[in-house]
Amino acid sequence: MQDTWLQDTQLGKKPREGFSSSVGVIAATLGSAVGLGNIWKFPYVTGQNGGAAFILIYLIAALLISAPIMLSELMIGRKTHANAVGAFKTLAKHEPWFLVGVSGVISSFLIMAFYSCVAGWVFSYVFKAVAGTIESTSPQQTFAVFQTLVNGVGEPLFWQLFVLAFTGTIIMAGVSKGIERVTKALMPILFVLLLIVDIRSLTLPGASQGLKFLFQPDFSKISISVILAALGLAFFKLSVGMGTMTTYGSYMGENENLPKTVLTVMLSDTLVSIMAGIAIFPAVYAFGFKPDAGPSLLFITIPTVFSSMPFGRFFMILFFILVAVAATGAILSLLEVPVAYIVEEYKISRRMATLGTIMAIALVGSTATLSTTLLSQMHIFGKNFFDLYDFVTSNILLPLGGIFFAIFVGWRWGFEDMFEVFSNHGRLKNEGLARIYFILVKFFAPVAIALVLLTGLGFIQF
Ligand code: PFF
Repeated sequence: MQDTWLQDTQLGKKPREGFSSSVGVIAATLGSAVGLGNIWKFPYVTGQNGGAAFILIYLIAALLISAPIMLSELMIGRKTHANAVGAFKTLAKHEPWFLVGVSGVISSFLIMAFYSCVAGWVFSYVFKAVAGTIESTSPQQTFAVFQTLVNGVGEPLFWQLFVLAFTGTIIMAGVSKGIERVTKALMPILFVLLLIVDIRSLTLPGASQGLKFLFQPDFSKISISVILAALGLAFFKLSVGMGTMTTYGSYMGENENLPKTVLTVMLSDTLVSIMAGIAIFPAVYAFGFKPDAGPSLLFITIPTVFSSMPFGRFFMILFFILVAVAATGAILSLLEVPVAYIVEEYKISRRMATLGTIMAIALVGSTATLSTTLLSQMHIFGKNFFDLYDFVTSNILLPLGGIFFAIFVGWRWGFEDMFEVFSNHGRLKNEGLARIYFILVKFFAPVAIALVLLTGLGFIQF
């Protein structure tokens, strides 16, 4: 990056912004990976699908497939120091590869449409926890509070806008002064909060049953479809297949050890997911509740569980703050994809690009938020808007993007050019690792992801 900066400065151009330190690189990248996926998806899917056996399968899928794709994205970004579309335009001029970047911009936009809706619920729950309005030991009552929120119009829209305005303000502040600074402050807070809630949960009488649910290895539950589910989860978890990591990679300096960054982020992200499971399930079992998936776990069971324990309100506030923190880092990385694209490809100021993006997401996102109320009659391919955006991104665009990132590196870029970036121009002595990585992206990853894609679309059944 120094070279680019130097060149830019000599040409009298304003240098392109980037992350200013390795800690900042890890914080921002981990901030993207850690999100709602760790809290409302990973722990439950793990418990349902064989506990420790599933975690093992997940780690293998993440290591052999998602991590190589993440690394591919980071390398493409760092090589070109350009946004997701510009990166492909630089590396493969006059070829249609830039469409992979375009698909990434669309994916991040569509993910934000529904992700910001759920993040809005989470932010509103921070305030509800403080105000005490979700404090109740009766699931019927917490269910009613949640129903009122999601079946409303003004309230969920307000919170969605709040989330967009909040994250948009950080994005406007810039890459190092906004994203890097905020994630560097938030990630340690997230870890500490998780640790406190973990200790609370583990010290409740009867906690061991929850630990059993989460960890007891049951290899008989592992089937092909569970393996594919693990792979799909590893994809969404590590924010790959859509240019987020290309964009963040473009802000990384020439001395960052990218393979190491990927491994650190992947393992830390899994640790956060496991810690989230430890925060949730022992407490759920300790008070005689049943684990549940998605919205009902987070917004109905959790408030009831926390209300049942000593100092429950305090821990409930901490819990929802940590979920809000997790969602914030993920949204920052999602927002940065279209913003960087607009700024660089259309020469529009960062402020205006952010404002325009937020307004467009607010518009499209409101159709997700209102999909169970005002727009409940509107269905496309049998799905309401919320489910449609989720389905199109998770089941089609992300795997498709992943396949093309892998094919680009394996077949279009080639080993020599790739290795220049992988090894920091030969300064890192990691050729053995590079060879393994290259085989993974050239052959293994595209086939495995194609299987996920075809299964997700119902073309193959196991
Ligand atoms: N990794 C985030 C999570 O697990 O919640 C979700 C996500 C963020 C997906 C950013 C994709 C992305 F670009």
